[in-house]
Amino acid sequence: MVAGFEAVKVSEHVYWVGAIDWGIRDFHGYQTMRGSTYNAYLIVADDVILVDTVKAPFKDELMARIASVTDPQKIKYIISDHSEMDHTGALPAVIDEVKPEKVFASTLGLKDLTDQFHMDHEITVVKDGDSMELGGVKLTFWETRMLHWPDSMMTYVADDRLLFSQDGFGMHLATAKRFADEVPQCVRDEENAKYYANIILPYSAMVLRLLDRVAASGLEVDIIAPDHGPIMRTAGDIKYAMEEYSRFAKQEPTDKVVIFYDTMWGSTDLMARAVSEGLTAEGVQPVLHRLRASHRTEVITELMDAGAVLVGTPTLNNGMFPTVADTLTYVRGLKPKNLVGAAFGSYGWSGEGVKLVNETLEHMKVEIVQEPLNIRFVPDAQAMESCRELGKSVAVRLKEVLSGGS
Ligand code: FEO
Repeated sequence: MVAGFEAVKVSEHVYWVGAIDWGIRDFHGYQTMRGSTYNAYLIVADDVILVDTVKAPFKDELMARIASVTDPQKIKYIISDHSEMDHTGALPAVIDEVKPEKVFASTLGLKDLTDQFHMDHEITVVKDGDSMELGGVKLTFWETRMLHWPDSMMTYVADDRLLFSQDGFGMHLATAKRFADEVPQCVRDEENAKYYANIILPYSAMVLRLLDRVAASGLEVDIIAPDHGPIMRTAGDIKYAMEEYSRFAKQEPTDKVVIFYDTMWGSTDLMARAVSEGLTAEGVQPVLHRLRASHRTEVITELMDAGAVLVGTPTLNNGMFPTVADTLTYVRGLKPKNLVGAAFGSYGWSGEGVKLVNETLEHMKVEIVQEPLNIRFVPDAQAMESCRELGKSVAVRLKEVLSGGS
């Protein structure tokens, strides 16, 4: 076993024993410029319980942190709150090594763990609302299906008033600090929004239901311990986390307008800048992302609190420009809501790219303000004026929406 890794005490019975991934920059397509953590926790009471594990390559770090608290062979139970491999990659090897008496997961967690790892070890299913005394502490399990996988659940430790929230309330942030109150607010705000937009956004309806359920249950939570990023241990941080999730989930439109686009020979870039001038003239706030400079991760994060989107593409080989197709596919999957918008771009002889963008925006239920603006080759003065007018039209419609107009 490697040495040199220490656990961090979180509450009376709970220790953080996870791993810090300082080097990850791509989390299945989500750009993670500040790295990440895979948080696992150890409950040490009459028995020892491990809550989640880590990504497979970090198993030695996990075991070393556990060993800094207790002999890993004393782990009697393992709880798997979420079966995605950043939290279960090390699970089969940990089970082989410590031979726990029981491994707990949700009904769908059992199915996922079985199909991912084909393990011999029996998994004990816990159901939504189940409570049990385990190893000297009282645990309650809450299924949180589609937050953000069908198997997801949260585990509440009544003795410590601590909620293991798996991916919920998490963020990708590698830091030597384990607690939210030790991390600058501006960094947390940025990474929290990015995480929500890139992971949680499509499941916003479930977020609102979960927040209602927490409020109605009277559950007393002093600590939220997520599977990524800092642990929240102050009333202020917990309240703020809930309020931010509510705000993100509602996706109320603002006067921000995101233009994302790419360009082959500069025409679509010129058009994007002219559209932006039209938006500015009408008093709304354009934000431009040229896709060979901006990552899809930034685009969806910007869109989460925008009110309008304009997408620009050249036509290349009868289709969208590759970077536009990439980002639009990603954005469509994350289901941003409450947007008005339009498509624009340039072409040489066929011009399908802009039409395909427009179709995708329609599929995304973006309210299309006007027909796509498709300019052949290089925009002249009249075409540039059409771009300005497109920006103005989108701005006018957005202002109507913001003022409550139908
Ligand atoms: Fe952090 Fe859904 O895994």
